[in-house]
This record gives sequence, C-alpha cells and structure tokens, in this order.
Amino acid sequence: MPKLVIIFGTGSHNTERMAKAIQEGATAEGMDTLLKNVNDALVTDLADADAVAIGSPNYNHAMMPTVRKFLNDIASIDLSGKVGLSFGSYGWSFEATDEIHKILTSYGIEMIEDLLIKRMPGEEELEMCRRVGSLLACKIIKKEVLCAV
Ligand SMILES: Cc1cc2nc3c(=O)[nH]c(=O)nc-3n(C[C@H](O)[C@H](O)[C@H](O)COP(=O)(O)O)c2cc1C
Repeated sequence: MPKLVIIFGTGSHNTERMAKAIQEGATAEGMDTLLKNVNDALVTDLADADAVAIGSPNYNHAMMPTVRKFLNDIASIDLSGKVGLSFGSYGWSFEATDEIHKILTSYGIEMIEDLLIKRMPGEEELEMCRRVGSLLACKIIKKEVLCAV
C-alpha cells in the first residue's frame, strides 16, 4: 500500500492539529500513513515513504531547530522521486514553510503547494488540511480524476 510519512514540530499544537488532519485525509483515500512528532522521528522512517509531509510552525522568522536538524539528517538518504508537502501554522510570516519547501526540493522531492494556516486551525481549516492529505494520496495512487480534491 502507498505510504505517506508526516513529521512535524509544534510548540502549542497548532501544527500538530494540521498534521493529524492531513493524515485523516490521506487515510480516507486508502493510504498507509505514519505520523510522528519530530522529536520521535528517525531518518529511516522516510526510507519506504512514497510521500513525505514535513511541518513546522514559524518561530522568530524560522522553522523550529528540531525540524531543521531533522531536515539536515535526512540529506543522508535518497528521497528523489517522492512527492512532498511543506506545512505549518504561522502568525504573520512564512519563512518556516518556505525554507522546508526549498530544502525538500533540493533533495529531489516533487513538492505540491505549501499548506499554511494562521494560528489555531478551526473546522474549516482542518477540512482544508484533510483535502490536502487526500490530494497527496491521489498524486501517489494516481487516481487524480477519481479524487474529490
Ligand atoms: C515567541 C514566538 C515567536 C513567534 N514568531 C513568529 C514569526 O516570526 N512569524 C510568524 O509568522 N509567527 C510567529 N509566531 C506565531 C506562531 O507561528 C503561531 O502561534 C503558530 O500558530 C504556532 O504554531 P504551533 O502551535 O504549532 O507551535 C511566534 C509565536 C511565538 C510565541
């Protein structure tokens, strides 16, 4: 079964809420998923992934240092050809997701459009996150025409 691995950092759980909703959307399309806080994530978690979603909130105009370290660590494995998503909660600027996007692109990952939610996601925003999870799944399962996204 195709697999989506979602790794996130979070300070006050907003990006975590996004991550869980992305997982729900992908699961609903029949995709296998792995969801981990970056503090528990291993480089090897990404090895058998078809799609990877990396999330970080924006703190002091940057991604969380734990997410940055994980992104440095995964440079050691071949990620080319996977599909990717950069996501995160923010207050007023986009540096974290912009930088995650650039780094994953440099690893040969085919990125879809970044997913950004201002502060705490409400039900409407969570639904948007589910749709993006569904879109990621559809890109992998190659049934774009059948997916309602
Ligand atoms: C100390 C601090 C610094 C922050 N710096 C930024 C920033 O530079 N840019 C921004 O867009 N938001 C900034 N924020 C807002 C957070 O990105 C926002 O609260 C986000 O929802 C936190 O997500 P999380 O709950 O996943 O940690 C900051 C918040 C705090 C508490």
